[in-house]
Amino acid sequence: MMDSQYDFGMIGLGVMGSNLLLNMADHGFATIGFDLDDDKCVLLEANARPGTIVKGVNSLSTMVQALKIPRKILLLVPAGKPVDDVIESLLPLIEEGDIVIDGGNSFYLDTMRRVSYLDSRGIHFMGMGISGGEQGARLGASMMPGGNQQAFEAVKPMLEAVAAKSDGVPCFAYMGYGAAGHFVKMVHNGIEYAMMQIICEAYDILKRGGGYTNDELQLLFSKWNEGQLQSFLIEITASVFKNKDAETNEYLVDLILDKAGSKGTGKWTSQEALNLPVAIPSIDAAVAARIISGYKKERQKAAEIYQTQVAKIIISKESLAEAVEEALTFSFIIAYAQGLSMIAKASIELNMNIHLPAVIQVWKAGCIIRSGLLVHFAKVYEANNTLANLLLSTDIAALLKQYENNTRLVLTAAIGAKIPVAGFMSTLAYFDSYCSERLPTNLLQAQRDYFGAHTYQRIDKDGIFHSEWQE
Ligand code: 6PG
Repeated sequence: MMDSQYDFGMIGLGVMGSNLLLNMADHGFATIGFDLDDDKCVLLEANARPGTIVKGVNSLSTMVQALKIPRKILLLVPAGKPVDDVIESLLPLIEEGDIVIDGGNSFYLDTMRRVSYLDSRGIHFMGMGISGGEQGARLGASMMPGGNQQAFEAVKPMLEAVAAKSDGVPCFAYMGYGAAGHFVKMVHNGIEYAMMQIICEAYDILKRGGGYTNDELQLLFSKWNEGQLQSFLIEITASVFKNKDAETNEYLVDLILDKAGSKGTGKWTSQEALNLPVAIPSIDAAVAARIISGYKKERQKAAEIYQTQVAKIIISKESLAEAVEEALTFSFIIAYAQGLSMIAKASIELNMNIHLPAVIQVWKAGCIIRSGLLVHFAKVYEANNTLANLLLSTDIAALLKQYENNTRLVLTAAIGAKIPVAGFMSTLAYFDSYCSERLPTNLLQAQRDYFGAHTYQRIDKDGIFHSEWQE
């Protein structure tokens, strides 16, 4: 191919970068990727389908020169310093009007800084959340771009082509100004943390409390995936229970150490929620649960000291499964509600102008938190796209009311059996607090005023009051 003939450039030919590029090439775009590692360049070209235009180069300037103007370049490199380093090496090579997209899991405040830095050089920098892992990148990912709207329109044809589709509609849409794309992806990951934690607690209740075997769990989760819980996370969980270790022939899940890793996006969601502020306790609980899982040695000691024993739950297996299914549905809805309420608040506070129906559309397929429940949320936000919280929708309320009793039943049983269910409990406590007209915060205000003269308001008259509490 001649110089300046490529439609799209990729920096970083790891699994995600190369798969996205191959996917784009399958849709008729001429693509070129850069990676210092020659093997990755060779592998990229080797994996290209016949008739598609895919080139791998180990020189950044060669790639940049080969791109049509305005250049469209996607970065898929690890978040943090590598993104800044790539930007610095790109700057002498690109020109005003070029578009640089960061498709990694970058922290949205870094993205804001990069947007204004590159804006001052006339370069459009966009932060784009991408979800779906390797398979998504190759077959259809969920993509959450934000930033300059004109730049968005310029890259739309290529990215829309590689997006997952839900009922034929691409899961690629403009999220909003500045770092909106990375903000939405951060919250997506926070919801992902909450859903995963809640699923793990359901597993614990069923396995240790209800005596379910891995085979039974596999069947149960598969059945759930056909109903109201239909979702990517339930689907892969069912499949996890099938896997056996080749070496020992044991179930692989039983051989995995109960200590979770994390890359920080869940933690950022909690931290930023506190800053806004907005309450997302299900996500906080999921972050904390991963941290506690890391205390393996301390947990072993404590289990010995307290002689912790999980009791069997005295409910028939079938009734327990039915109740857990409803508790999961209830809790999934509330985890989404918390995340979406955070986006709604941040959209205003951080001036990002995020359109919630677009967020729901993008999450409907391709991403980790895709689920059948999003169809209900789409209807809610289509009717009122500025709704502060999903819980305020009467349609969502009808669903939650349907599942509330069984949620309480499952949690009561789990607490009695000594099964840790922090994700579920935070979710229910959020629901109970959010739906309480009156909270005991009157007493808290009295305490604050007592020791710190922090003042309080009254329910019977306007104004700010302080009392001398001590006689
Ligand atoms: C996705 C995932 C993906 C990933 C994160 C979170 O949407 O494809 O969210 O981004 O799983 O890296 O990983 P941790 O669990 O390691 O924080």
